[in-house]
Amino acid sequence: MRKLQLISGRSHPVLAKKVARLVKIPLSPVEIKNFASGEIYVRVGKKVRGNDVFVIQSLVSPVNDNLMELLILVDALKRASAGRINLICPFICYSRQDRKADSREPITAKLVANLISKAGADRLLTIDLHADQIQGFYDIPVDHFVGYPLFAKYLKKKRYKDMVVVSPDIGGLKRANKMADLLGLPIAVIDKIRKKHNCAEVAHVVGEVKGKIAVIIDDIIDTGGSIVVAAEVLKERGAKKIIVCATHGLLSGKASENLQKSCVDKVLFLDSVPISKEKRFAKMEILSIASLLAKIIKRIHTGQSLGVLFKWEKKGRRL
Ligand code: R5P
Repeated sequence: MRKLQLISGRSHPVLAKKVARLVKIPLSPVEIKNFASGEIYVRVGKKVRGNDVFVIQSLVSPVNDNLMELLILVDALKRASAGRINLICPFICYSRQDRKADSREPITAKLVANLISKAGADRLLTIDLHADQIQGFYDIPVDHFVGYPLFAKYLKKKRYKDMVVVSPDIGGLKRANKMADLLGLPIAVIDKIRKKHNCAEVAHVVGEVKGKIAVIIDDIIDTGGSIVVAAEVLKERGAKKIIVCATHGLLSGKASENLQKSCVDKVLFLDSVPISKEKRFAKMEILSIASLLAKIIKRIHTGQSLGVLFKWEKKGRRL
């Protein structure tokens, strides 16, 4: 069997270290630095020839630098004859532009897929892509995991009563439906409209939220605008408590401050992206994906099916 190796880029070393501890192998040494011009230099510090190499890099801000660093790492591994190059990118930047919504716009989700595939990666593992079908943009196998079962487990443990799962927009309805199904809960959906980028307005709420704990499930909190607006409208419609479950906490600008000040009672994130001390706020809680990633790495490495890790998706199965 090929030897297993783990390598971390510079975007999320904390997650990479946690995963390495759970997989019980050290992170392989790699030198990454910037030239005075800003260009990135990479040198893998250990032989990789013929090995099964996993690279951990979440494509968060600075997104262009982290993406380029990943592509350069892949190039270095390919030229050093790594046996298989597996990328673990819990968050993939540019995924929200997955179609042309207006004339003369790009489709950046496809462009990033082309760059990653062409650089020489053999496999990509990610969590909560903005839309499931982005998997098809890649010409390599994509293992796409979802975060809602981790949130569902947390909520179940807390024994909250009278919950309703809320999708903050029509696009997230499928995700909310699956989580509601897993917990045996009703669902509501917000008809969100955007008049310009990073600015959300609510139109309608479909479903009953009065007197209930509204659990909003979303893939990304960027500026926090969508969630704050959604929480306000749910409160107006009589929700007694608002819990937000969001996979990727990008928390740009004043998002943390605005969420802390808002009528949201709790915000749960996964550690798919790093959340610095400055961005943390009292209402926030972070659940870790490290043990899920460790299990996935071991199963991919030993050629076992990943299906068992999706077992919650089997029809009728409830937590
Ligand atoms: C939109 O379709 C996404 O699912 C998120 O709701 C959105 O990207 C969040 O952005 P913001 O936090 O800036 O409102």
